[in-house]
Amino acid sequence: MRRKLNIGFFFISFMLFLGPFINPALSEEAKKDSDLDEKVRKFLESHRDRWVDWNVPEVDGKVLYDLIIKHNYKKAVEIGTSTGHSAIWIAWALSKTGGKLITIEIDEGRYKEALANFMEAGLSDYIDARLADAHELVKELKGPFDFVFSDADKDWYKNYFIALAPKLEVGGCFTAHNASGGYSGIREFLEYVKSLPNFETTINRSRSAGISISYKKAEK
Ligand SMILES: C[S@@+](CC[C@H](N)C(=O)[O-])C[C@H]1O[C@@H](n2cnc3c(N)ncnc32)[C@H](O)[C@@H]1O
Repeated sequence: MRRKLNIGFFFISFMLFLGPFINPALSEEAKKDSDLDEKVRKFLESHRDRWVDWNVPEVDGKVLYDLIIKHNYKKAVEIGTSTGHSAIWIAWALSKTGGKLITIEIDEGRYKEALANFMEAGLSDYIDARLADAHELVKELKGPFDFVFSDADKDWYKNYFIALAPKLEVGGCFTAHNASGGYSGIREFLEYVKSLPNFETTINRSRSAGISISYKKAEK
């Protein structure tokens, strides 16, 4: 029995040792991943107290990150980049699923700051940042998408949803920030999306103002 255990232990150790030689490409990928993780973590750590432009709190960034990883989402859109906090969490998750984010901001100063943040976090390759009015751009964007995060002007949430829902894949989701904040525009959006038979909506009431998550269950 003891001898069998020893052989088993020796075999597992030997295979672990051989791993990188058997598939060097895999170990190269893993290294790239961990280098990026380290860079993003360092960036987030050093910027923890610097998010002062209506940015989401860290807890909400983590909710977005987990959603993308859990469902393996790859084609994401964000409305309202500001200086890029939520985009960084989204793009970090997409760096693992092999996806990309289109994020839209109307204010040039915040857009430029976001670009610098994306570069510093090492995530620029995963983000297509657009300086534009999302009222117009969401209509022009070519889908399909599997993840949307709405975090710009609250009165327009319903319109953003109407423009993007047909471009959302079944299984994808439309998320919206400040869902429990009591804003009239968001109430109207939530009433609308909850009335749709092909969407299922829940609200994640994390410590902040909440994120609504509307999964698309069917085309119609
Ligand atoms: C709440 S902040 C976004 C915070 C960001 N998601 C973050 O966590 O870092 C909302 C942003 O939406 C932008 N915004 C408002 N109306 C917009 C529009 N029509 N098109 C694009 N961006 C818009 C604002 O300029 C502002 O920077």
